[in-house]
Amino acid sequence: MARAGHSRFDGRAVPEPPRRVAVLGAGGFVGSHLVPHLALDRSLEVVAVDRDLGKLAAGLPGVTRLPVDITTPGLLDEITGRAQVVVSLTALCNPALYNTQPLAVIDASYTDLVPLVKLCAARRRWLIHFSTCEVYGRSALDGAGRRMRAMVEDQTALCLGPVARERWTYAAAKQLLERVIWAHGQHAGLPFTIVRPFNVIGPRMDFIPGVDGEGIPRVLACFMDALMRAEPLRLVGGGRQRRSFLDVGEFVTAVGRILDHPATCQGEILNLGNPRNDVTIRALARALAKAFAALQPEAPPARFQTVDAETFYGPGYDDSVVRVPSIAKAARLLGWRPRRSLPEMLPDIVTDYVTRYAAEIAASVGQEPGGGPSTHPRRLRWTKARSASAARARRLAAGGGA
Ligand code: UGA
Repeated sequence: MARAGHSRFDGRAVPEPPRRVAVLGAGGFVGSHLVPHLALDRSLEVVAVDRDLGKLAAGLPGVTRLPVDITTPGLLDEITGRAQVVVSLTALCNPALYNTQPLAVIDASYTDLVPLVKLCAARRRWLIHFSTCEVYGRSALDGAGRRMRAMVEDQTALCLGPVARERWTYAAAKQLLERVIWAHGQHAGLPFTIVRPFNVIGPRMDFIPGVDGEGIPRVLACFMDALMRAEPLRLVGGGRQRRSFLDVGEFVTAVGRILDHPATCQGEILNLGNPRNDVTIRALARALAKAFAALQPEAPPARFQTVDAETFYGPGYDDSVVRVPSIAKAARLLGWRPRRSLPEMLPDIVTDYVTRYAAEIAASVGQEPGGGPSTHPRRLRWTKARSASAARARRLAAGGGA
């Protein structure tokens, strides 16, 4: 099948499925699922690089852990000297940072990665770069500004908001890096694949504020935090905006298939998402609350509260209204079609958060800020109930049944 730019990769790409793979950002949410998936293939040698590898399971066969920052002098040179393929996952991909720490976001998504692109091009290493669905911007529009049903890799326009809306710093930085990669592919011999993930969710996503991070995580962790604290789930702008959620297990399966098919996937941009799970954020909140109530029947009923976007995120925030991927290309090239629905995914996710965090949150909310016991009777009862449930969830997890 003829595809734009493909002839340029003839004779340049890694000809066989590569054996030596470096994963940059291996300690993040996606990396902590991807590396164990790659380790199932015993013929692969994987170097897992991250300044914090805490989320990545230890002792995986064929995996070497390298706990360093990718900006460490000489590191990218060393990595691209040995690996045949570099999977680049590093980014600050949390919307709360885009308008509050835009310079750090631009560096992490663009500046720090340009040297990687150049090294991969010079050495003909296959760069599998994780970009973002955010590059499509506010909604799916064609070149003439007409609405499209879904976001299509090689057709949909990239429609970001004004520069003063700093929400789009991340998308702009990601888009520019995509263009740098594309240009190196077209004009400097770089074998590449760009992946645009659409709201991948699963266990170990983000952090809980005040426990293992500070600030505002992505929506899933925000809602789990609220549920575990028995606080209202905050719906930005009423929660009418829509997202399409993809199970992380199905996501890493697709990435594994990309690695197995270099000739088909090089020179391509691929959406990975699940258009069948297109829901409003309000619907996500209700589904998560339902899954939480099933696991924690003693918890008080979930409450929902509408918040204004700028109050929640600060000035310069903006939003994608609707984000539905076309996955026709991924289906065609990878034989991949995600199947897991939200009700199928959410129980494992809830169990993961409860197992890891509920006891600690319970301990903290059971104390007044000054350290004394809370006098709020409802909160205290709930605190005790949650501690017991967390212990139960831990026992389940220890027995491998969770
Ligand atoms: C983010 C990143 O910017 C993307 O690059 C990334 O691909 C995507 O997450 C992802 O998870 O894959 P976004 O979907 O806007 O994009 O991030 P979330 O923080 O998960 O927010 C989703 C929606 O929920 C937004 O409309 C947000 O305003 C809303 N939200 C968030 C709430 O209503 N309440 C909250 O407590 C948090």
